[in-house]
Amino acid sequence: MLKKISVERLAPGMYVHDLGVAWADHPFTLNRFKLKSEDQVAELMAAGLQAVYIDTDKGDDVHDAPTAADVRAEVDARMRDVANESPPPMRITVSEEIRNARILYQRAGTVVRDVMRDGRLGKAVQVENVAGLVDDITQSVVRNSGALLAMLRLKNKDDYTFMHCVSVGTLMVTFGRALGLSGEALRQAGIGGFVHDVGKTLVPDAILNKAGKLSEGEFLLIKRHPAEGHAILLKSSNVGAAPLDITLHHHERMDGKGYPEKLPADRISQLARMAAIVDVYDAITSDRPYHKGIAPTEALRKMLEWCNGHFDETLLRQFIRCIGIYPTGTLVRLSNGWLAVVTEQNTSVLLKPAVRAFYCSTARGPIAPVEIDLAREPDYRIVADESPEQWGVDPMHFLEVTRH
Ligand SMILES: [Fe+2]
Repeated sequence: MLKKISVERLAPGMYVHDLGVAWADHPFTLNRFKLKSEDQVAELMAAGLQAVYIDTDKGDDVHDAPTAADVRAEVDARMRDVANESPPPMRITVSEEIRNARILYQRAGTVVRDVMRDGRLGKAVQVENVAGLVDDITQSVVRNSGALLAMLRLKNKDDYTFMHCVSVGTLMVTFGRALGLSGEALRQAGIGGFVHDVGKTLVPDAILNKAGKLSEGEFLLIKRHPAEGHAILLKSSNVGAAPLDITLHHHERMDGKGYPEKLPADRISQLARMAAIVDVYDAITSDRPYHKGIAPTEALRKMLEWCNGHFDETLLRQFIRCIGIYPTGTLVRLSNGWLAVVTEQNTSVLLKPAVRAFYCSTARGPIAPVEIDLAREPDYRIVADESPEQWGVDPMHFLEVTRH
């Protein structure tokens, strides 16, 4: 059945039958197609279309599906909800912890490289080295989790597979601690994060870094990495149940459409659910050979949007609370045009962290660094995430400035 609806009511899943304008006047290659994403809906709106015909026999009906505006409003409401919660307090400032975090980050890269090399050579993985690293990372996270989180933003796209394991391990420790894990349980969660993709060491780089669409065969090869990683770890002594579970199940989904086992939600452990969240967060915020990472805030918004099928929503909200809506190290633009780096999460409202402003985007020049606690300074607010690359600035440099 054909229905004419306003573009605001369009949503992914609907089948567009007629755009109502000439082919040359819209940005799509076809006149008839199924909407697959919010981005496509946004493109239709941006093209200035007012109303379109949908075919409810070939796609979702307007009554069955939430509208694009509904989805946006719902995600906004969920972000606001989380924003009213408080992150755990820090013992020292990010500036005081950043040097130590930099050294730890480099050491983590070496440890993960060794794990991957051993896995590739069919040797036992040295879990004791990973456990020692996790303990030191835990200490850094306890002092100030923002320092290592900021460091994770530095990944080089060519090193992605290694550094992704470093990120997932660090995020598992940060997230696990925020959820109340400690001692051996937290250590095992961290180890699981650091080794979770060890199976990728058996996938050719040409496939891991392929820029174009993967063939079905290539995708099947990639989908073998959880089971292959699990097999590598089984050959190593002293690997606990938690790292084995995280490695095998970090691609399972709450709707049962994950891999390798298509587990239903009630058979996915909390650790595997946590790993699924931090794995996707790091993947979509990182530059890869074939795509540019998105800003953390946008990534968290998208994950909230997807969480019905993909993630455990309660855990996802706890993750956002743990790292912040504007994680430490994020470059933001303030309402007066200044660029600033987020230095500290605010313990009462996540949308208003403390920042250090250092550049004027309108005058296009540096300013003397200024500390601003956005919760106490109503004249300033964050208006956007910014790309450090685009502005040619290094926010890390300004995190290292000692506060007076
Ligand atoms: Fe993976």
